[in-house]
Amino acid sequence: MHFFEYVNGELYCEDVPLREIGSKFGTPVYVYSARTLKRHYSVFDSAFDGIPHIVCYSLKANSNLAILSLLGGLGSGADVVSFGELSKALKAGIPPEKIVFSGVGKKEEELEKAVKKRILLINVESEGELKKLKEVCERVGSKANLSIRVNPDIDPKTHPYITTGLRKNKFGIGIKDAEKLYLSIRGDRYLKPVGISSHIGSQILELSPFLQAVRSLLDLGERLRSSGIPIQYLDIGGGLGIPYKDENPPHPDEYAKRIKELLIDKDYTLILEPGRVIVGNSGVLLTRIIYIKKTEEKTFYIVDAAMNDLIRPALYDAYHEILPVDGREKRKIKVDVVGPVCESADFFAKGRKIAKQNEGDMLAIMSAGAYGFSMSSNYNLRGRPPEVLVSGKDCYLIRKRETIGDLMRNEIIPEAVKERRI
Ligand code: LLP
Repeated sequence: MHFFEYVNGELYCEDVPLREIGSKFGTPVYVYSARTLKRHYSVFDSAFDGIPHIVCYSLKANSNLAILSLLGGLGSGADVVSFGELSKALKAGIPPEKIVFSGVGKKEEELEKAVKKRILLINVESEGELKKLKEVCERVGSKANLSIRVNPDIDPKTHPYITTGLRKNKFGIGIKDAEKLYLSIRGDRYLKPVGISSHIGSQILELSPFLQAVRSLLDLGERLRSSGIPIQYLDIGGGLGIPYKDENPPHPDEYAKRIKELLIDKDYTLILEPGRVIVGNSGVLLTRIIYIKKTEEKTFYIVDAAMNDLIRPALYDAYHEILPVDGREKRKIKVDVVGPVCESADFFAKGRKIAKQNEGDMLAIMSAGAYGFSMSSNYNLRGRPPEVLVSGKDCYLIRKRETIGDLMRNEIIPEAVKERRI
């Protein structure tokens, strides 16, 4: 369910025509619907009513401060994977006791910040990290609540690049080794193992891999509890898929119901780290056709957004629906929608049937709220697009378009180069 719909042949975000947003803020521009975000969050969160749980929204999907503040205001916690994400979550007012920190390569300064802020859980992913965490705790003189991210060796049947819970992946620690590590820190003065975590992949469209993961976390939890390790939190990560085209992912209610069945009366607090399911269908990338180029073989709609703005089609061959902002034309033609970047991977759609457009018309690239802006870059020295949040009739600029000044700010021409000494 989202709030991007045609009204009298014009595509709206909530009560605002996208055409108006494109004209006012320029294109390309990311547009998010606050109503959709709020709805997705509350549907997901309330689905778990009945068992103790904390929803820790995964910042990597979209970490705009306005979006974080909005979700924080609804009670969301945060799943972070870097110093930057941790700082942003705190800046947006998300309380440390609702923040979990995942990631295979946390550096010492990242662990230090997490320890000092006393966050809910540091999800440790290797023996080396556990050692480093202990050193940091001793130096800082502070305890740390941690979980070990286990790798339950489950195939989530999604794109290989976003599969994380198989033994061959770099993530987590095999259950047997994890168990040994837990036992090795039993009673430690600084390291407090209070949780078990896992995250098996993203854009998962079936329930069974999740249920398998919960079962293996539960088994381990029970074994650890009986060895005197007071496991309180089971963190099952994110990963619930969304419809981009005609996929039919489980509804959050169904997902929650089946998970709750396994956990009821078990006295654990469940932690969830959803990203895509909250923001994915809350945002679109609005772009304008610069040129229509016909070759002997094809028709290209050359648009002003590019792979640097939304890399998912280039990187994962991902499908994003593309809708004309003016929906009155019904005749469809087959086109490739491509950006201006100098790479053949710079495409949004190939051989797609889209209603016939003219140069200057706008297109909405749908389902771009997750892993859109957050994976954008400045390749080809393109400033990243602005972001606009719509709520009812109101539009708020929540990130300015990057300027050429922004792009050159950190570069330095040494005197030696200026004076031709090099
Ligand atoms: N927790 C952890 C530890 C994760 O690694 C991820 C995503 C999530 C939670 C959130 O997963 P979600 O609910 O959004 O599926 N760039 C890719 C997706 C990469 C996902 C990485 N990890 C894409 O555009 O499809």
